[in-house]
Amino acid sequence: MKGIILAGGMGSRLFPVTKGVSKQLLPVYDKPMVYYPLSVLMQAEIKEILLISTPQDLGQYQRLLGDGSRWGINLSYLKQDKPNGLAEAFIIGENFIKNDSVCLVLGDNIFYGSDLISHLKFAINQINESQKATVFGVKVKDPQRYGVISFDEKGNPNEIIEKPKIPSSDYAVAGLYFYPNSVIEIAKTIKPSDRGELEITSVNQIYLNKKKLCVEKLDRGFTWLDTGTHESLLEASQFIQTIEKRQGLKVGCLEEVAFQNGWISKQLLIKTANSFKNTGYGEYLINKYSGNDN
Ligand code: DAU
Repeated sequence: MKGIILAGGMGSRLFPVTKGVSKQLLPVYDKPMVYYPLSVLMQAEIKEILLISTPQDLGQYQRLLGDGSRWGINLSYLKQDKPNGLAEAFIIGENFIKNDSVCLVLGDNIFYGSDLISHLKFAINQINESQKATVFGVKVKDPQRYGVISFDEKGNPNEIIEKPKIPSSDYAVAGLYFYPNSVIEIAKTIKPSDRGELEITSVNQIYLNKKKLCVEKLDRGFTWLDTGTHESLLEASQFIQTIEKRQGLKVGCLEEVAFQNGWISKQLLIKTANSFKNTGYGEYLINKYSGNDN
């Protein structure tokens, strides 16, 4: 399976902060926002990852993340000339995806929950066993800001609507999607919406119509963080700070995920940690992994 991180867009809801820097490079507490979705792909054990961003911002992502070898992954980069919609990721990434299945994660979405890995495995199994796509439904207070899933009287999903004025449920579609290879051809068939975008919701509706879409609910015990406004960005930082302080664990720590996956040696982990040892991030890795018992 291949992974794509979509990290473009204008970030206009965060102006003037994002006038000079890409939104997904902004800090969420102690690390750049893009670390969190990248760590999700790595937790899904995806090693071949494409990052898509604007022509002007790609260089900064390359400077930050490089070729991925310090986490044992293979990172490549492609530009999206204009924010033509999330589904354009599969058209831009066609030669990268080749004949594989693909997971798309939005560069501004943060997922936190102890059962994240089992949800990721569930989605991968759906593709392997029945060529089904998976989206994740999360209960939110303001569903009209998202893609919203409606359910029939038996509780089965029957429609997904992008930013409905009157939402028919509280379940928003999170920015993490798993698709079989057919997504490339499906993305090519959809037409731009009224707001001029190739909507991921149109792709999902096609899979739903074909009875090839699983809607996996992320309920209690799971947190999906929004970073779309100044307020929610600050709250996301505070949430990560609280979790990390209380639990003494890091969220979105790429070296740790890579080491736990068996993709990098302890020596490489410590080498990277030493390169920023005067930070809480570096100290965490050194304290946790420089002994002999890990
Ligand atoms: O966050 C989940 C929501 O993401 C879903 O519930 C919606 O169905 C989906 O359409 C999307 O809604 P948003 O309105 O939040 O999408 P937004 O335009 O903010 O784009 C999401 C991220 O993707 C953002 O970081 C910018 C980036 N992006 C967006 C577009 C349209 C791109 O890189 N390229 C694009 O063309």
